[in-house]
Amino acid sequence: MSDTATYKNAAKVLTGTVVGFTGSPTSGQVSEQDVLHIEKGAIAVNADGRIAWIGAAGELPEQYENAERHDYQGQYLMAGFIDAHVHFPQYRMPAAPGKSLMEWLSKYTFPEEIQYGDEAFAQRAATVFLRELFRNGTTSALTFATVHSVSVDALFEAASEFNMAMVSGKTMMDRMAPEGLTDTPEESYAQSQSLIDNWHKKGRARYAVTPRFAVTSTEEQLRFAGELLKANPSVLMQTHLSESPGEIATVEELFPDAQDYTDVYARFGLLTDRSIFAHGIHLSEREYQRIHDAGASIIHCPTSNNFLGSGLFDLPATKKAARPIAVGLATDIGAGTSYSMLATMAEAYKVAMLKGYALPAFEAYYLATLANAQILRIDDETGSLAVGKYADIIVVNPRATPILEHRQQLSGSLESSLFACMILGDDRLISATYVAGNIVHQID
Ligand code: GUN
Ligand code: ZN
Repeated sequence: MSDTATYKNAAKVLTGTVVGFTGSPTSGQVSEQDVLHIEKGAIAVNADGRIAWIGAAGELPEQYENAERHDYQGQYLMAGFIDAHVHFPQYRMPAAPGKSLMEWLSKYTFPEEIQYGDEAFAQRAATVFLRELFRNGTTSALTFATVHSVSVDALFEAASEFNMAMVSGKTMMDRMAPEGLTDTPEESYAQSQSLIDNWHKKGRARYAVTPRFAVTSTEEQLRFAGELLKANPSVLMQTHLSESPGEIATVEELFPDAQDYTDVYARFGLLTDRSIFAHGIHLSEREYQRIHDAGASIIHCPTSNNFLGSGLFDLPATKKAARPIAVGLATDIGAGTSYSMLATMAEAYKVAMLKGYALPAFEAYYLATLANAQILRIDDETGSLAVGKYADIIVVNPRATPILEHRQQLSGSLESSLFACMILGDDRLISATYVAGNIVHQID
């Protein structure tokens, strides 16, 4: 497989209302000057799948006048969403009614994941999974695979066919899971390294060392995960941290010498600026401080947290001026209940409100796009609309449903309109999805 792979692009021009956001992941601030808004806008895409020009449609340079036209008048052209924590082998699992995280894992999740040792099964699942991401306007993701290397191959292979930026890794787990879903520390090291050699930075693929969480890894395996991270300075690390009270109690029993859950990872070289922790709901002040000091990130997964009753993520606590922490946003399918990042933003808004913070719409869109790209270290190629980046673009119809049609009559500003889209929106609003300039989903 080469960087240019098998897809073929034609130069094209998309017209519609261009909307974009920039900001800083450690403050979450998105001020007016961070918002790009061109009412009658156009985006020119080169045959290499990258954005060549953005501006007012009336000022389109002559060289694009004969390019293929895709007109989306009255709709928003935005950067594709990025899902910063999602389990591809759980793609058909949403709505499994576990009473707690630990019960949900053992009763539903582990039996489902065992099947991904079958290469053909994993390949079929990868195709369905990517289609569902595209239908929801998600153009990149940080994804858990299973313990089986073939599941990682299947996902990277499928993503490469779309020239899609995909970050993933083989789950490392050597205890407290059924046979067929565990490896050994040595196997997990060797298999992860081999996947890094085969996939990391091949086209738009990136690798993340993936110990599932402290419960399912022995000390020796966590040490190996830390070694892998050290030996491969441009790969990321993803795991779960402080999601539910039952999980935290188990970690305390398994690691009696650790100061706290965050310290478990720190002891094995897994608390770094390349570390991405899903959830981080029940953290102490000491843990927030250490995560800040390390430059690590936390991914908020609100539909999952609410579904499993895990707890309310404290977004304002991560914004403390003395120790801000980079926060991203994700579905956490299959504990999450929606593939839609719009629905995820709505749930994040409600959870933030319960913590006393009215999450502004611009900030929510920024979290779901550029903040996640920055955390995944793919912001040089995606996450916002900018010349030179890949044309990972979605078309959002703000009047896609009857009630939105009426609600938008009350929207006196872009912010109000986007707020309505995120609170009332889902896959129905995604008229089209482009990955690297190619159309991968379109509503008929
Ligand atoms: N903690 C360890 N594994 C998982 C998982 O698959 N989903 C969630 N939500 N939490 C986890
Ligand atoms: Zn998860």
